[in-house]
Amino acid sequence: MSSTIFRHFLDLADIPAEELREILDEAHRCKKAREGLPKGAVDADASLSGHILAMLFEKSSTRTRFSFEVGMAQLGGSSITTSADDMQLGRGESIEDTAKVLSRFVDAIMLRANDHSALVALAQNATVPVINGLTDYNHPCQIMADLMTLEEQGRDLKGLRLCWVGDGNNVAMSFINAASKFGYKLAVSTPDGYGPSGQMVERARAEGAHIDLIQDPLKACANADVVIADTWVSMGDKDIDKRMADLGDWQVNEALMNVAANDALFLHCLPAHRGEEVSAAIIDGSSSVVFDEAENRLHAQKAILKWCLGK
Ligand code: CP
Ligand code: NVA
Repeated sequence: MSSTIFRHFLDLADIPAEELREILDEAHRCKKAREGLPKGAVDADASLSGHILAMLFEKSSTRTRFSFEVGMAQLGGSSITTSADDMQLGRGESIEDTAKVLSRFVDAIMLRANDHSALVALAQNATVPVINGLTDYNHPCQIMADLMTLEEQGRDLKGLRLCWVGDGNNVAMSFINAASKFGYKLAVSTPDGYGPSGQMVERARAEGAHIDLIQDPLKACANADVVIADTWVSMGDKDIDKRMADLGDWQVNEALMNVAANDALFLHCLPAHRGEEVSAAIIDGSSSVVFDEAENRLHAQKAILKWCLGK
């Protein structure tokens, strides 16, 4: 077993603000250092040379899968990607045994899990770092890329007014988890029954987060610097027709962006559904930075991998 010191990346709420700041600074450095290089070229310092990342997916993925695989290649390491169903995990082998076995083969494990408790069990039993690639509860890698994107656009996160519109889902939760760490103000606008966990909102507020729960999206987005949407139907959600009906008034469109600040930016983690949570005019318009946001998954995660492995 490895005796190397390591850190898990599971929940932004549990990571000190100064460490998250260091990860973002490193992400910006990583991106700048690669300007002009082919995407497959190894970074000059090859900081994860000889390291292997295992990636386990219980749900679909485009960005998370590609950004981690490319990231490991750029860091000089390699990765093994599999659907959990193709492993014995899919036939009932325990997550605890899986954690112990994979820890003998690889240097880090990324899991995209249906149930957050599976991620926690994996981390508790692994002897290598575990990274959260999205669960039903949160999506911390995404928010690091989102915040990096805002900084790249010249925005100072401290005091920045962010407005989340739609389902109070896993991505919204990571914005809540990180609010006190970076000092932005977060308004969350959801229909009745779609709000984020009150307990987590209270925890964030107790740690200094400025979070407003404002049902009316027009009021919530008034003067916002950043407007954020995500799908109305997350992976694993069953009640599709009900969600479409209940969330219909929470679309980010021109009327909504018009009440935000003149230079407001639009974020969406993707995949997007034009005509549902966001109009085509907004996601494909000048305020949208969604493809920079997607690219920054790569740079942010390289910094997360280095932090996890103490590099
Ligand atoms: N935003 C995001 O996590 O995308 P994927 O589901 O494609 O990984
Ligand atoms: N909330 C979405 C995010 C996808 C990246 C989901 O969980 O499906």
